[in-house]
Amino acid sequence: MFDYLKTTEDALASFLPSKNCREHKLIEAMQYSLSAGGKRVRPRLVFEFNALCNGFPEGAVPFACAVEMIHTYSLIHDDLPCMDDDDLRRGKPSNHKVYGEDIALLAGDALQTLAFEIMTSDKTATLVGEKSCRQCANVLAKYSGANGMVGGQVIDLISENTNAPIEVLREMDYKKTACLIKAACEMGAISAGATKQQVEAASQYGECIGIAFQIKDDILDVTSTNDELGKPVGSDNDNNKSTYVSLLGISECAKLINLLTEKAVKALECFNGETISLKKFAYELAERTK
Ligand code: IPE
Ligand code: IPE
Ligand code: MG
Ligand code: MG
Ligand code: MG
Repeated sequence: MFDYLKTTEDALASFLPSKNCREHKLIEAMQYSLSAGGKRVRPRLVFEFNALCNGFPEGAVPFACAVEMIHTYSLIHDDLPCMDDDDLRRGKPSNHKVYGEDIALLAGDALQTLAFEIMTSDKTATLVGEKSCRQCANVLAKYSGANGMVGGQVIDLISENTNAPIEVLREMDYKKTACLIKAACEMGAISAGATKQQVEAASQYGECIGIAFQIKDDILDVTSTNDELGKPVGSDNDNNKSTYVSLLGISECAKLINLLTEKAVKALECFNGETISLKKFAYELAERTK
């Protein structure tokens, strides 16, 4: 099987700017978080949907890396003292603990713009065509910005110390987490020249596993350990976050995850190709322990 993980790791490293410059500390900070591992869920989704829609892996690489860069920037900023104030990420001290808050902030900013530089480069346009490049850049911008991941992070912050109702939690999880996962699924399909209907189905799958992914993240924050997760457990409780778990409890949340996973699997029915891998992946994510 195609080794998406190695391809992702190699490509991420290759896209980083050279450290041979006055601001090398910035590049080191970008590399520190980007090369620290992580599950690479979003790149995998880009490759999976690209393959399902008869694309080719080289054409998916820039988009797989772009979404992972945006995700990594979101984690660097999420850990800052002004946000969740967490000192451990991907099994290592958080970016700001090593490089300081100023450089961590800027490393996040630079990862964000690097994502768009890669997606809109001449090389990427030659691989998948101008139209797919533009559409993917548009999708990733839309889902990462004020009405996507960033908006969701704001809902998360303003919901601290409140008992946010279910509809607020749904919108928060949709925006802060599902949107980037949805973007990965859509970009996989778009970079393969998929039909509108296929992109829509990919989007629906991403939305469902994406919300389930955040609910599972909230459960693991209560039930797991720092060693297993590579990030501090109990962070949500310490910050008085409003989560599905704080509102509904763990067993109701587990049921919701199952419902969302079934809905995601159902969305795959419209594809003619082999969907077993994406089906399995949805169940794996629902059962994950980290
Ligand atoms: C953590 O994402 C933040 C959420 C959106 C829940 P991941 O669980 O995908 O983190 P990494 O990439 O594996 O570190
Ligand atoms: C973060 O949610 C979602 C992001 C957009 C980064 P969390 O704050 O729960 O993520 P972790 O648990 O710190 O990874
Ligand atoms: Mg957070
Ligand atoms: Mg956090
Ligand atoms: Mg969390």
